[in-house]
Amino acid sequence: MHRAALTVTEVDPYTLVVGAPPLADYLRLRQDSGLSPKNAEQGAGAIAGSWSACHVVDAGGTPVAMGRTIGDGGWYFHIADIATDPDHQRRGLGRRVVEWLLEDVRDRAPAGAYVTLVGDPPGQRLYRSLGFDDVAPSLGMALRLD
Ligand SMILES: CC(C)(COP(=O)(O)OP(=O)(O)OC[C@H]1O[C@@H](n2cnc3c(N)ncnc32)[C@H](O)[C@@H]1OP(=O)(O)O)[C@@H](O)C(=O)NCCC(=O)NCCS
Repeated sequence: MHRAALTVTEVDPYTLVVGAPPLADYLRLRQDSGLSPKNAEQGAGAIAGSWSACHVVDAGGTPVAMGRTIGDGGWYFHIADIATDPDHQRRGLGRRVVEWLLEDVRDRAPAGAYVTLVGDPPGQRLYRSLGFDDVAPSLGMALRLD
């Protein structure tokens, strides 16, 4: 009897979840990915004040990647906290998160949105591949308050 060749389909162990991860996971992912650590008060404000957020959980339900958008809902949006747990990097999760955040702006904001981010070196190729470019002749500027 002829048997069809067995095809092995790889199961995607990751699920994208709309919304920020729980506070403890937000703080852990920032720290473990190498972003500057934040305290619980800062994290709670970040989660509550975001316009949009998503995260990715692994097969066991643990958050392993995240990102969020700060926005006025009109035209100005800033993507922040793009971070993937080092044990889960280079599997397309950062791309999945940023693509979802951009899609959400496209879906819910009026046309003509201006989306910014501060592209740290690990994410620069990813952001460029999604259409981000530097702001020259303007200059990204920041002020850190004590
Ligand atoms: C930046 C960051 C979020 C990217 O997360 P990630 O989940 O690894 O992102 P992706 O997997 O989508 O893409 C990263 C790289 O993996 C590659 N990749 C994607 N899927 C892959 C796969 N299956 N196998 C091998 N490589 C893969 C991508 O091509 C990309 O390579 P490139 O940067 O050389 O173009 C992650 O490196 C990180 O958390 N860095 C520390 C925190 C940080 O700097 N965040 C950015 C702040 S602006």
